[in-house]
Amino acid sequence: MKPDSDDIVWQANSAARAARANKALTDAFSSKHVTAIREFHRAIPGYQPTPLAALSKLAEFLGVGAVWVKDESYRFGLNAFKVLGASFALIRTLEKKLQCERIPLGDKNRQSASLRNQLENITCVTATDGNHGRAVAWGAEQIGCRSVVFMPAGSSPVRLENIRRHGAEASIIDGNYDDAVRMAADLAEQNDWLLIQDTARPGYTQIPEQIMQGYLTLFDEAFEQVGEHEPTHVFIQCGVGSLPASLLAFLVERYGGRRPTLISVEPTRAASFYRSVVAADGNAHAVTGRLDTIMAGLACGEPSSLAWEILRDHGDIFVACPDRVSVRGMRVLGNPLPDDRPMVSGESGAVTLGLVYEIATDPANRHLREHLRLDRSSRILLFSTEGDTDPQMYRKIVWGDWRPRAP
Ligand SMILES: Cc1ncc(COP(=O)(O)O)c(C=O)c1O
Repeated sequence: MKPDSDDIVWQANSAARAARANKALTDAFSSKHVTAIREFHRAIPGYQPTPLAALSKLAEFLGVGAVWVKDESYRFGLNAFKVLGASFALIRTLEKKLQCERIPLGDKNRQSASLRNQLENITCVTATDGNHGRAVAWGAEQIGCRSVVFMPAGSSPVRLENIRRHGAEASIIDGNYDDAVRMAADLAEQNDWLLIQDTARPGYTQIPEQIMQGYLTLFDEAFEQVGEHEPTHVFIQCGVGSLPASLLAFLVERYGGRRPTLISVEPTRAASFYRSVVAADGNAHAVTGRLDTIMAGLACGEPSSLAWEILRDHGDIFVACPDRVSVRGMRVLGNPLPDDRPMVSGESGAVTLGLVYEIATDPANRHLREHLRLDRSSRILLFSTEGDTDPQMYRKIVWGDWRPRAP
């Protein structure tokens, strides 16, 4: 693949089949954890399952059996799914660190004076393209900790302000996402701060794994909502990989060999998982440089090591998409066929719908369509992982004057 290609490119993970037979998953995604984590989120004031839209007219138009889209813009009023992971990791880590049984999230009045005092002296730090940092800042605010957040160069000022609104000391650095991750990790080490990051690396796996566990609530809700007609295909956005790996682990645990096909979707210029699967040497291959894409939430060059192991051993298809695909998804979701529900979906949220649309309608993607066996018997589940987290950019794209930047 040329890094600036305007084509949708894909790779089937043929190596996975052999590996799958020998490699079991960790216990972290088993049904007992799913139940406990759903309970954890249910106890947070304001918890409600986010809506799942059945886009029947679109399914008919595209020649498939069903298209379901779960709308994460409704998640705790934060406009993205990320809080599910950050909240669970933050609270479980602090409970362990402070050796207390329960830290109530969202109700500081239920904290004892000594717990309050301990929490006030803790600083959480993280790096983010926007959504994860907002989630960490929100969690810290709910329990009364301090938070520090770093964002890569070029980050949206609106997303920065939304993080500051939760009391975080947030700033945009002169470097890309992976530089911001390193900066947060270094400061955590130097100052004894708590690093709440979703990228695992050797020696730092527990919190990223808890973040991935937190996402189980999203999948549990979705599969409950679709009911007995289970999906045949799930398309899922991939940044550092924690989201798709968590979904894959959920599917492997719950459905074993008869699980839906999982299609991981990345932006062309930050397609580290796609590239790693193409390389087929078992190693994760990072993408470096500017990671230039409108899909800010997916603009990550270095795969999470935990996510890579799961996706390498069990993942099915890896796709890299140019920005125009996400633009298509935003426009289609925002302007549906009659009777389908409109949905505000941001740049990282809409790319999977855009991809399904492109696969079904553009003859250039015939091979992928045939490989996936997309036809009237296919039931497709998608996750709109964010709403208009940058409303100005959203309008610019959906109302019309967006053009791909020259490479
Ligand atoms: C809106 C959105 N969707 C999807 C993702 C991808 O999640 P992950 O980085 O865990 O692969 C992100 C990550 O920030 C995101 O913000």
